[in-house]
Amino acid sequence: MPQSTRMKADLSPIPWVEALSVGDAAIDAEHRFFIELVNRFSDMVAQDASKIGINALLHRLIEHSREHFKNEEAILEASRYPELAAHRQAHQALLQALEAVVQDFLAADEYDRWVAAALHVKTALVDHLLHQDMRFKSHLQDRVGR
Ligand SMILES: [Fe+2]
Ligand SMILES: [Fe+2]
Repeated sequence: MPQSTRMKADLSPIPWVEALSVGDAAIDAEHRFFIELVNRFSDMVAQDASKIGINALLHRLIEHSREHFKNEEAILEASRYPELAAHRQAHQALLQALEAVVQDFLAADEYDRWVAAALHVKTALVDHLLHQDMRFKSHLQDRVGR
């Protein structure tokens, strides 16, 4: 299988499953929208959409990330999450990584590099959700249980 075909296969949509819930309705709603945007983005790249269209969605994704990170940090702050400082740093690093991907995408005319950028965005955001956001799940659940 040529590399670009294999990479396209990795752009299959991510379903929302209950296991992705972090136990806070507001954060979950934003995460759902995140996944929807990531899926739409993967779809566009997989369907050879135009660079302009992909670029617009990429910018929307970054805007949503910025907004979401701010909201999530406010909720974590209000609930006195002890690892907030590290989490804030992870958000900053993620935004920087996303912006670097956008720059790379804008500079590239080869289709394979667009697919690579799409995969990078997908992996980075989903990784954050699964490995960083999941860390505050039990903290928020304890808060609700009290
Ligand atoms: Fe999040
Ligand atoms: Fe987060």
